[in-house]
Formats: sequence, C-alpha cells, structure tokens
Amino acid sequence: MCGIVGIIGRQEVAPLLVDGLKRLEYRGYDSAGIATLVNGSIDRRRAEGKIVNLADRIAQKPIAGTVGIGHTRWATHGRPNEANAHPHASAKVAVVHNGIIENFQELKAELQEHGHGFESDTDTEVVVHLVHYHLDQGMEPVEAVQKALKRLHGAFALGILIAGHHDLLIGARMGSPLAVGFGDGEMYLGSDALALAPLTQRLAYLEEGDMAVLTLDGATFYDVGDNKVERQVRQTALSGALIGKGEHRHFMAKEIFEQPQVIGDTLNAMYNPARGSITLPDLPFDMADVPKVTIVACGTSYYAGLVGKYWIERTARVPVEIDVASEFRYRRPVLQDGGVALFISQSGETADTLAALRHCKAEGQRIVSVVNSPESSMARESDVVLQTNAGPEIGVASTKAFTTQLTVLACFAIALGRAKDTLTPAREKALAAALAEVPGRAAEVLAHDEAIRDIAQFVAEARDVLYLGRGTSYAIALEGALKLKEISYIHAEGYAAGEMKHGPIALIDESVPVIVIAPHDEDDLFEKTASNVQETVARGGQVIFFSDAKGVLRMQDTALHAIAMPEVDPFVAPILYAIPVQLLAYHTAVLKGTDVDQPRNLAKSVTVE
Ligand code: AGP
Repeated sequence: MCGIVGIIGRQEVAPLLVDGLKRLEYRGYDSAGIATLVNGSIDRRRAEGKIVNLADRIAQKPIAGTVGIGHTRWATHGRPNEANAHPHASAKVAVVHNGIIENFQELKAELQEHGHGFESDTDTEVVVHLVHYHLDQGMEPVEAVQKALKRLHGAFALGILIAGHHDLLIGARMGSPLAVGFGDGEMYLGSDALALAPLTQRLAYLEEGDMAVLTLDGATFYDVGDNKVERQVRQTALSGALIGKGEHRHFMAKEIFEQPQVIGDTLNAMYNPARGSITLPDLPFDMADVPKVTIVACGTSYYAGLVGKYWIERTARVPVEIDVASEFRYRRPVLQDGGVALFISQSGETADTLAALRHCKAEGQRIVSVVNSPESSMARESDVVLQTNAGPEIGVASTKAFTTQLTVLACFAIALGRAKDTLTPAREKALAAALAEVPGRAAEVLAHDEAIRDIAQFVAEARDVLYLGRGTSYAIALEGALKLKEISYIHAEGYAAGEMKHGPIALIDESVPVIVIAPHDEDDLFEKTASNVQETVARGGQVIFFSDAKGVLRMQDTALHAIAMPEVDPFVAPILYAIPVQLLAYHTAVLKGTDVDQPRNLAKSVTVE
C-alpha cells in the first residue's frame, strides 16, 4: 500500500525523505518520488520500480529544499510508471496521496472544462488541480485545501506543498491513516510510525476528516468542520534501531524465528503463572452476558479468526459467526443485541476490516479488536484492544502476527469460557499451562528448519499444491496455502481433509505435493485424516505429513516426508503447526527466487476496499 513522508525543517530534506520511503518499502509499492520547494517553485524527482531507482535519479540530478514530500506508490489507477508516480504537481501545488478518490472522473472533467491539463492516469492528480483552482480564485493555501477536500469522495491521506509557501506543509486524512511527527525545529508527516521512527517518537494521529497545517513551530489541526482542534501527542515505542534483519537474509525469516519470543511477550500480558489463569484487559462489559461473537478479518488474520471460532465454540459454547471483511457488511449480517464483534488485523488499517468495524459499531455491537499496532485506526475506534506484542512485522507475508493473534484468541476463548462457566478451573489451568509451554515448543519446531528447507526442493518444482487438515488444522491448511501462493507464486489450495473425496481428489497425481497437518486430538480426527492420506497416496499423491511422533510413526512408510512435531495439548496445536507451513513457504520462495519480503502485487496493509 502507498506510503507518505513529509518534512518541513531547516536542513536539506531529500536524503531524509528517501530514508523515510525506504522504511515504507515493506508496505509494498511499484514506484516512488519526492517533491520539494526550491526558491518558491516546486521541484520533483520520480522513478518507476524500487527506491534505489529514485535514489539514482536524485544522484544524477540533485534536488534541494528544506520542505518536501515523498511517496511510495502501490498502483490503483494507472500503470506503475514514472508518469503516474507521485508526487503529482502543477506549477502551484504538489500532492502525495494514499487511498482512492472515487469521484475523480467527475472532478477531472469539471477541471478540464476550467482549462486544467492532466499528465497522468491517476485519481490523485485531481487533488492537485482542485487546490490549484481554488488558489487561482484568490484563496489562501489553507482555505484552498479545505475547499478542495470537501469535493473528494473516497479514501485519502494527503501530503500537500504549495509553491511560494516554504513555511507550510499540509496533511489531510479521510479513511487512510496519517500521523504528524514533532521534531526539534522540524515537523513531519508519515503514513505510520515506522516511516518517522528515526526522526521522532512523538506523534499525533489525524482523525477522520482532519487537516493538519505544519510549520517549523508546530502543527494546527482542523476537524472535518474546519474547526481548530487539539490532537493527542503520543510517544511511540518504535525507534530506528528496532528494524533490521539481524543475521537473517529476509525480514520474513527473522520474524518466523522471533515467534518463541513474541508469543511469550503476548502471552505474558494475560497469563498469571502463579495462579495459572488468564486475565484479559478490563472490558466495559460482562463477558457472561455475551450472547454471540462475530469475527471479521482478511487474509491470514481471517484464518486466525477461524481457529478462534473453533476455540470459542468449544471452550465457551458461545456461537461464533465469521466472515471475510469484504463480504461481511454487504450481506446484511444479522447481529445479536449485546453481541461482541471481534476484528483481527496486524496493521489495524485494512480498509475492508475497518469498514466492517464501523458498520458493527453503528449497529451497537461491542467492538473488540486484536491488533499489532496500538496506534492504528482500529485500535482507536474499538471499545477494547487485545494487543499482539509481535513488534513491527516488515515482511508482507504475515507470520509472527498470526501466531500472536492465535495466542490472544486462545486467551479470549479461555476467559470467555470462565465467564460462561463452561470451563472448569482445572481445565482452565490446563489450557493456560499448555499456552505457557508454546514458546518453548515453538523453539523446538524451528529446529526442523533445515529438514523443511530440504522438503521445499520438492515443493518448488510443483505447479499445484494442496494443504489438508481437519478441525483447527483445517485453518492452518488454509493459512499454509496462502503463505505458499503469496510469496512463491505457486498455486496452492487449503482444504478440509474430509472434503478431498468430494472433488479435489481428482487433482491428485505424482506432480502434486499434498501437505497434511494432522496432530492427534480429542476427537480422533487423526484416524480420519490418516484415511484421507491413504486415499491420496493410492492415487500417486506425494504426501508431506506434519504430526506428533505417534502420527509420524504411523505414516512414515506412506508419506514422502514426515516431520514429528512436539507433543502438545491439541488446544494449542494450531499455534505450533503454523510454523512449519511458514518455513515451507519461505524456503520454497527462496528457491523460486521471488522477492520474499515484498512479493509482487502485494501490500502489507491494504488500505483500499
Ligand atoms: C498475509 O500473509 C497477507 N499479507 C494478508 O493476507 C494479510 O493478512 C491481510 O491483508 C490482512 O492484513 P491485516 O492483518 O493487517 O488486516
């Protein structure tokens, strides 16, 4: 997703803008650019592709200026090329934009009738000419921007420069996050805290409809009604030092290997080892009164929610409805009074999920969000935030965020079971103890890294891969398939193992690796999955089997490869079994030579619907 950086200061801003854009690379992009004010005029450098191309462009033709804006573009309207790269500019106005202006065609036609010429295929360029038009009407910059903003429909985070006004940097937000950073004699704009981390830890987030006018002395905030307002300045925990790959080749590898630590960090916020109990943050409602839980998320976060559904219904006997955010509100869901709507999101900014959250809030649901970014829009708009302490996740493919989401959901299910009196104290203690073991067991699983890397040699040759599981392992099969396809570009599908015989088994032959996730569990699903494995192998399927030692012993003559996972309470198995499918996807992608941390076409946080 697009990234925005803006700086108004006393030093040359070009190198700082480029550094800020590098910190936004993880969001996914396909072109980049910066603009500054030089002697009253707008100057720009833009380049297609990676930021290194922009840096080369600037090295060839340096750009001066102490106030500027920068942008990494994830194309929505118009091909990813230099002409469509931001900043977009006229002689008077330069703009960077994250989001989608839904009425840009209508505005473009209107502005063209007023004689404005357009040089790009983007929606963003209408913002440039709208502001320019109002300046031509004799308005001052702040008023001209306020007028322009009122014409925009859709989602936007904007950074705006006005020629001849070195003392101004304007930001605005509707639907896409934007932060103001407070420096010493400098002020900043950023899409997120990471972009500004080496410059400042003091941030104020714009609220929906806000505009911020930055000068060297500080920021003035205006709300959607153009009233001056105050916005809280927070101290972000992020610092420039936090983000590095360590000894790992990719951020994704580093984040996979951080999981024992961050699962422990996340659990420690809710687990009391002395009492062996789980305590959630204070809730503004009594969990005993919760009649239903509705879970809404996207992608990997949705699969975490699917595991959560199994856990909550089994542990607390509370009905759970789950849906992907992009479908949820359009099917007119039936929500129960007093129900909890639970939103899962690493970024806390995914537009589909945020829109679903706002729908449920408007319907009077109790809003609980499981997020990794405490400063995110979802966190700010929820009644309760259950935080995953995964730390910044830079790899576009979600790994440690997923297992810490599961950790939080497991705690939520246990706490709800206790509140509903469907969980005996002894069982609560056993489940909490099983959770407490997960960080150590996760470290054991990571010891299989080399064995899984060898298995990836076989998977990397495949055209199609199937992932199978039952119960909570079905959700891990879905997640494993997503991991593989999003970073190795190999087609993969996750399926309920029991569903194979209802069609997908027709796909099976010697060229199709079948990844089976099958720990032993209370319902003896293992035996049923073992039958599915036999059916698959009988048709030439090449099975890669993840189970406990007993399961591997059973399958060692049937499966092509079998990896013995640590013995754990079946309740926590999904957290552990996520790790081998992450490693398998990672090593396969490395063999395929894809861009593991920034896979093609993908964005880390999809802030457009
Ligand atoms: C996961 O590997 C993907 N990057 C993607 O499916 C992601 O989980 C999804 O876009 C949701 O993002 P969020 O958790 O930030 O809301």
